[in-house]
Amino acid sequence: MRVIVEINRERAAVRAARFVGNLIRRHPRCVLGLATGSTPLGMYRELIRMHCDDGLDFSRVETFNLDEYVGLGPIHSQSYRHFMQTNLFDHINIDLRNTHVPDGRALDFEAYCQQYEKMIDDAGGIDLQVLGIGSDGHIAFNEPGSSLGSRTRLKTLTEETVRDNARFFESPDEVPRLAITMGVGTILESRQCLLLACGESKARAIRDTIEGPVTAQVTASALQLHRDVIAVIDEEAARLLERRDYYRQVEYAQSQLQAGQLHGAVDENHPG
Ligand code: PGA
Repeated sequence: MRVIVEINRERAAVRAARFVGNLIRRHPRCVLGLATGSTPLGMYRELIRMHCDDGLDFSRVETFNLDEYVGLGPIHSQSYRHFMQTNLFDHINIDLRNTHVPDGRALDFEAYCQQYEKMIDDAGGIDLQVLGIGSDGHIAFNEPGSSLGSRTRLKTLTEETVRDNARFFESPDEVPRLAITMGVGTILESRQCLLLACGESKARAIRDTIEGPVTAQVTASALQLHRDVIAVIDEEAARLLERRDYYRQVEYAQSQLQAGQLHGAVDENHPG
């Protein structure tokens, strides 16, 4: 796993957006996996800026979101479809027919989840999956104990997640207890993962994910099994990492490589 520690969340957001922007420029028809929550907001703001100021073109990009609350329709103010519209899609030139957020009001969830997986397959798979992380180490809504081979399905949220997400609702009672979520196995099939984490509240989850054992109790730790993961985190989220100095050395060597000082330029999105 490549670990990039930025000084603060603003710098982390810009760095993460650069990875996404570079991919779109190289592959205008790329398939992005997108995440909701507070963490990717800065990255989305930067992508909107890149679209407005630098002409970053989303017209042929296809997107799949990780998850959605069960029971919330697309115009509910806390639905993830609504989140994506207001925080990204409404401000860029993406074709909405190419944007997919799981349907929290599907009639037959089992059939719908299979269909969501098939849509991802039919699109050619996800090129870059953006991921936040829960304070309990979950990715998407794969709560502790989720199978590391799991596929898109319904999941019951833990009390910790309900508590964490209650800040977006008028009261904790309004937080849905169920969500549709891509599985850990689904996420591991994406070609590249971009894991984002900011703030002290994520420090333990980040330590367990990057330096702990692979375990279903911290579903993000399954990313250690993926061949191409970039973690972009801020200093606060990195606070408990033991090998922080090493990660810095790796980034220094990487920047020298890019400057052509060692063996010529490398592609930052695919360091090797
Ligand atoms: P957050 O949520 O970005 O709002 O902290 C992350 C998550 O629960 O996956």
